[in-house]
Amino acid sequence: MNQLSNRAFESITRLFHDVSGIKLGDNKQALVSGRLQRLAQEAGEVDLDRYVHRLVQGQATPEELTRVIDKLTTNETYFFREPEHFNDLVERLHAHRKGQDFQVWSAASSSGEEAYSIAMLMSDVLGDSPWRVTGTDLSTSVVASAQQGLYPMDRAAMVPPDYLKRFCLKGQGEHEGKLLIARKLRERVGFMQANLMKPLPSLPLFDVIFLRNVLIYFDMEAKCDIVRRVLTQLKPDGVLYTGHAESLSTLGLPIKVVATAIHVHA
Ligand SMILES: C[S@@+](CC[C@H](N)C(=O)[O-])C[C@H]1O[C@@H](n2cnc3c(N)ncnc32)[C@H](O)[C@@H]1O
Repeated sequence: MNQLSNRAFESITRLFHDVSGIKLGDNKQALVSGRLQRLAQEAGEVDLDRYVHRLVQGQATPEELTRVIDKLTTNETYFFREPEHFNDLVERLHAHRKGQDFQVWSAASSSGEEAYSIAMLMSDVLGDSPWRVTGTDLSTSVVASAQQGLYPMDRAAMVPPDYLKRFCLKGQGEHEGKLLIARKLRERVGFMQANLMKPLPSLPLFDVIFLRNVLIYFDMEAKCDIVRRVLTQLKPDGVLYTGHAESLSTLGLPIKVVATAIHVHA
């Protein structure tokens, strides 16, 4: 199949930006062409530019548009990514008064590895105390796979062996070679679709918010909007983690940095 023309690339990146807030750079033309090809074929369109034309003219169904947005988001993630935040979280969990509720939000949770890593630590430290993890993401397909909690075994490299035994089940039959997050953990972790660029759905106030490896995709204005919106969900003594490559210090936001990529309300 053909590549997108410059004009079609501009149109589809503008549409994607309008929906998600993410700016795809000019160097992403081949990547975007590749990602759209299968969808175009499935929609019975052999010409990529014509497919894009249909999308931007509003001739696609909302479901088709969702599939396109899902395809264009970057969902890379893994268990216990950037472990410094998890070490910090463990300290906070130990300092937390037992029996009191503890709520954590994995904003931009992708396929759920971050949320389940958090849940493993919370179950370990807080046990049966009231606690919950909420995961949200723009992409409906990653939200659906996060809800399943089923992963290829080779994704478990960063999961401590003790946690693998306690919180993961070995897939059998059709799930051979996979691991399933144990039900007792899945019951405490909920996922839903939410766009950080739009008013947020109804959520509780959180003790800890993970907003990691998503801000890099936005321009400064969108980044500020997102962080301000997310901060409305953070308890007065709560903590916000961002990805290590995502500095907020120059944005003039009402936050204080307490350690690398760890923030509290100013
Ligand atoms: C690279 S993943 C990061 C996953 C995880 N937080 C981590 O650090 O490993 C970025 C995620 O952000 C999501 N995302 C992108 N734009 C978003 C938006 N406007 N609202 C909510 N999620 C968004 C993508 O769908 C993707 O799953």
